[in-house]
Amino acid sequence: MSDPKFSVIGSGSIGIGWAIVFARAGYQVKVFDIEEAALRNFEIQVKARLELLAENDLLTQSPKEILARIDTTLDLSEALVDADYVQECGPENVEVKRELFTKLAGLTKPDAILASSSSALRPSEFASDISSNERCLVVHPGNPPYLIAIAEVVPAKFTSDAAINTCTQLLTKVGIIPIRVNNEPQGFVFNRLQGAILREAYCLVRDGVISPTDLDLIVTEGLGKRWSIVGPFATSALNVRGGIRAHVARMGKSYFEMGKERGQNDPWDQELVERVASDIENKLPDAQWEKNTEKRDLALMKLNKLFERIVKP
Ligand SMILES: NC(=O)c1ccc[n+]([C@@H]2O[C@H](COP(=O)([O-])OP(=O)(O)OC[C@H]3O[C@@H](n4cnc5c(N)ncnc54)[C@H](O)[C@@H]3O)[C@@H](O)[C@H]2O)c1
Repeated sequence: MSDPKFSVIGSGSIGIGWAIVFARAGYQVKVFDIEEAALRNFEIQVKARLELLAENDLLTQSPKEILARIDTTLDLSEALVDADYVQECGPENVEVKRELFTKLAGLTKPDAILASSSSALRPSEFASDISSNERCLVVHPGNPPYLIAIAEVVPAKFTSDAAINTCTQLLTKVGIIPIRVNNEPQGFVFNRLQGAILREAYCLVRDGVISPTDLDLIVTEGLGKRWSIVGPFATSALNVRGGIRAHVARMGKSYFEMGKERGQNDPWDQELVERVASDIENKLPDAQWEKNTEKRDLALMKLNKLFERIVKP
C-alpha cells in the first residue's frame, strides 16, 4: 500500500496522539468525534504538541505542513470512506466499542484494518459478533504514542494473518514498533508488567519498607534507566557471567521466595529457562559477554550525559 489513508475515531488524549503519529509520517488522517467541543480541543492540542515537538527538534517538517494532513469531522461515514486503517480511540467501555465496531465494519472498505486502542478490552469481547471481524484487533499504544514508539498488536482467534501483517506493516511505516501479543491476556503485556511492579510497590509502601518517593527514585535512577537500554531478560543475562542460565542458577531461588511471600507459585522450570536463554542468546551470545556488557555500559554513559540535561517533572 503506497499511500495509506488513516482514520482516528475519538479525538481525546489517545486520538490526539495517533493523529500526530500518522500525519507526522506523511499520511492523510481524518478524525471523528461525536462532540464538537472535543474536536475543537483536539485542534488546539495537536497544534500545541506539534509546536513543542518542533521546538525540541523532533520533526522533519513544519507543524503547519503536518497539520494540513489532518481533517476533523462530525460525520462518521465521511471519516471512514477512504480509510485503509482505522484507529478507534473511543471510551474504554465494551458496549461503546461493540457498537462502534459494528458501525466501522459497515462503513469502511472490506479490507480496511479496524484497530482499537483499548487498554484492557480484548478484541473477542467487542468484535466477536461483527461481520468481517477477520480485520479487527487491538493496537494498544504507549502514551503519548508520538513519543513512546511501540504498540501491542493483539489479535483475536478470528483475526486473519493477512490483517495482522497489513497492520504491522502500516505501524512500521508510521514509525511505531509493532509488538505481537498472543492469546489476548487480560491487561495485555505493557499493563501486566506495569501492574506487577505497581502491586509490589504498594505492598512495600504498606509494609513500611520504603517511602513512595524513594520507590519512584529506585525506578527512575536505577531500574528504569537500565531498562531503557536492556530489558529485564537482557539485564539478567548481562548481570551474571554465563548469561540467563547462570543468572537463574544464582538468583532463581531468591526470586522464587520473593514471589512466594506474595502468594505466587510460578517456578522457572528448565524448559522455560531454556526457551528464554536461547531467544536472548540470539542477540546477546554468552561467548561475547564481555563485549556486550561493555556496550551496555557505553550506552549508559551516553544516557547519563543526556540525563544531566533533562529537567524531570
Ligand atoms: N489515556 C491513556 O493513557 C491510554 C493509553 C493507551 C490506550 N488508551 C485507550 O484509548 C482509548 C481512548 O482513551 P482516551 O484516554 O483518549 O479517552 P478520552 O476520554 O480522552 O477520549 C475519548 C474520546 O472519545 C469520544 N467519544 C465518546 N463516544 C464516542 C463514540 N461513540 N464515537 C466516537 N468518539 C466517541 C469522546 O468525545 C472523547 O473525545 C480507550 O480505549 C483507552 O483505554 C488510553
